[in-house]
Amino acid sequence: WAIHAPYVAAIERLKKERNAVVLAHNYMTPDIYHGIADVVGDSLQLAVAAAEIEADVIVQCGVHFMAETSKILNPSKTVLIPDSSAGCSLAESVTAAGIEEMRARYPGAPVVTYVNTTAEVKAASDVCCTSSNAAQIVAAMDSETVIMAPDKYLAQNVAKQVPQKRIVWWDGACIVHEQYTADDLRGFRDWNPGTRIIAHPECPPDVIGEADYSGSTSGIIDYVDRERPEKAMLVTECSMASNIADALPEVDFVGPCNMCPYMKKITLAKVLWSLHAMAEPVEVDPAVADGARRAVERMIEISR
Ligand code: 13P
Ligand code: SF4
Repeated sequence: WAIHAPYVAAIERLKKERNAVVLAHNYMTPDIYHGIADVVGDSLQLAVAAAEIEADVIVQCGVHFMAETSKILNPSKTVLIPDSSAGCSLAESVTAAGIEEMRARYPGAPVVTYVNTTAEVKAASDVCCTSSNAAQIVAAMDSETVIMAPDKYLAQNVAKQVPQKRIVWWDGACIVHEQYTADDLRGFRDWNPGTRIIAHPECPPDVIGEADYSGSTSGIIDYVDRERPEKAMLVTECSMASNIADALPEVDFVGPCNMCPYMKKITLAKVLWSLHAMAEPVEVDPAVADGARRAVERMIEISR
């Protein structure tokens, strides 16, 4: 912590000067998560929090679509992202034209898009979802066929939870979660009996089939906190275990994890620069923002 202390102190000073709050996703490194965040959470929690922020400035420690969502929900605020190249393989996998293509293929079917998308894609859809409410949102659609984009694995996992719907999907995937295989997990469990396997629903369905629990990043944290298993393997991004390990000394976090190269672009040094230079402000075309806000607010309404 000593090497982080000067950054943390300088960031805290600038936060006061700028009247800024830091929203940090659960995949941020511990120095950000524990050192400077005012709010931590999964995508849904951060979106709900962003809508209610009263400070002048929001510093989004997460990837670009999360900063865009904050700007969409609270447009009068300055939303800064410390590195605007912090993308997401899912957000990059589909455009608004792709959504229209799906609509043409399945006329009348509502489009449920994951929040891991650009504002244009959100505006082209009927409603958004996150990993914590996807099944609930799909179940609430007034149609037997539902289009889900862009995560094919999330769609396939939701299809198992909502069998009354016929779900069709876009062919996108998360580069972090698609790397896990069911074979690896079976092998790992054989060598480490008693390990609780906990996976994010962006993993392929056969991986989820091997897991004891699947849920959003905050769902995973709550599950481990509640269950306190002796050994836990978090089948998700590496910072998740690092962020909760100190508070749960009785849990042994075991097994490999994968890093999200986009999330890891956000560092303490970049947050400091961001607050110093007021860089980089996120802008969303107001007409696009209106359409995207409708889809995100409908999601929040349904999942309340
Ligand atoms: P959560 O909504 O579960 O936090 O997921 C966001 C994400 O990008 C996971 O890869
Ligand atoms: Fe996108 Fe996957 Fe990184 Fe989440 S972990 S931000 S879905 S690339």
